[in-house]
Amino acid sequence: MSNPSLLILAGDGIGPEVMAEVRKIIDWYGAKRDLTFDVEEDLVGGAAYDAHGTPLTDETMEKAQQADAVLLGAVGGPKYDVLDFSVKPERGLLRLRKEMDLFANLRPAQCFDALADFSSLKKDVVAGLDIMIVRELTSGIYFGEPRGIIEEGNQRVGINTQRYTEAEIDRVARSAFELAMKRGKKLCSMEKANVMESGILWREVVTEVAKDYPEVELSHMYADAGAMQLCRWPKQFDVIVTDNLFGDLLSDAAAMLTGSLGMLPSASLGAPMANGRPKALYEPVHGSAPDIAGQAKANPCACILSFAMALRYSFDQGEEATRLEKAVEKVLADGVRTADLLNDEGITPATTAQMGDAVIAALDASL
Ligand SMILES: NC(=O)c1ccc[n+]([C@@H]2O[C@H](COP(=O)([O-])OP(=O)(O)OC[C@H]3O[C@@H](n4cnc5c(N)ncnc54)[C@H](O)[C@@H]3O)[C@@H](O)[C@H]2O)c1
Repeated sequence: MSNPSLLILAGDGIGPEVMAEVRKIIDWYGAKRDLTFDVEEDLVGGAAYDAHGTPLTDETMEKAQQADAVLLGAVGGPKYDVLDFSVKPERGLLRLRKEMDLFANLRPAQCFDALADFSSLKKDVVAGLDIMIVRELTSGIYFGEPRGIIEEGNQRVGINTQRYTEAEIDRVARSAFELAMKRGKKLCSMEKANVMESGILWREVVTEVAKDYPEVELSHMYADAGAMQLCRWPKQFDVIVTDNLFGDLLSDAAAMLTGSLGMLPSASLGAPMANGRPKALYEPVHGSAPDIAGQAKANPCACILSFAMALRYSFDQGEEATRLEKAVEKVLADGVRTADLLNDEGITPATTAQMGDAVIAALDASL
């Protein structure tokens, strides 16, 4: 059987720096766990613009469509701020998401015990937190028509439309139920069925899909109440499924419960391909961090944990994903910290490569 394929798009700024550490880990899996990937690297974002005058070439797009999974670093930077909107680095990422039809965005909010003090919430509220937010990514109010700013009488009116088809709700709900089956078998669906028709339909369709997953305990919550509960007692949740707009807000809020941007992975999944694997793109939540790029300060953990998500959701290697997550946890527990994880000025921070090497050492120790 051929090796699974990975397309790596490191991108701009700290993207290539954090991805270099992921490459070490990919090599470790090939050498130590007999888990070898066929890796191809290509350009995206500003790097692709510099080389080709576009943030994503058609050839790279085609490679992404063919790959078993895509791993992306980050795109963007001040150098590209002056570019026309159509060729801005972010357009490369948006094209990938759109053409791969990645409708389910998975954002875990996991609090490593060693970092519980970094949260703005009390330690006992967040320590051990492990929730997953599934955000619908390709429809809803960010895409609905009509939209625009029109003249009405003597004033302007801004218009956006929240629109969801049954099929769109059904497919993202199924992704969330499948995830819940692999986790704690609890799913909370969030909408505003009290004031929005799209919310009423959302609730109805999710309830129908639930019949195919009798083992999963389903609950519904209004999204505003959900936001409150996330801050009050986030550990009550396992998987949350919600629409594009609410998911945008709730996933950012939940993410910050856990401390640093440098620790947050994500996955965007689409429909299954012929081999049964979902179309998939994995990337850290953070951007290209131009303020620290080129200084060996970037925390590679978000990108490393994104690869762990790839192991779990694209390659059915849940045990190896857990091994990698535990390795990161051990490194943090041992006190290894990049600068973003330090409050104390007196401690010398680990460099990006030192953090990556510490994770490799923890992987070795796990054997
Ligand atoms: N998915 C993406 O590629 C993506 C996401 C967000 C922003 N961006 C782009 O990135 C550029 C910078 O945006 P921004 O500054 O708003 O967001 P950012 O995430 O790049 O940085 C925000 C802050 O967090 C820090 N930070 C981020 N990642 C870190 C890491 N791994 N380790 C240590 N510190 C880290 C940065 O130093 C900065 O102080 C912009 O061009 C923006 O458009 C890209």
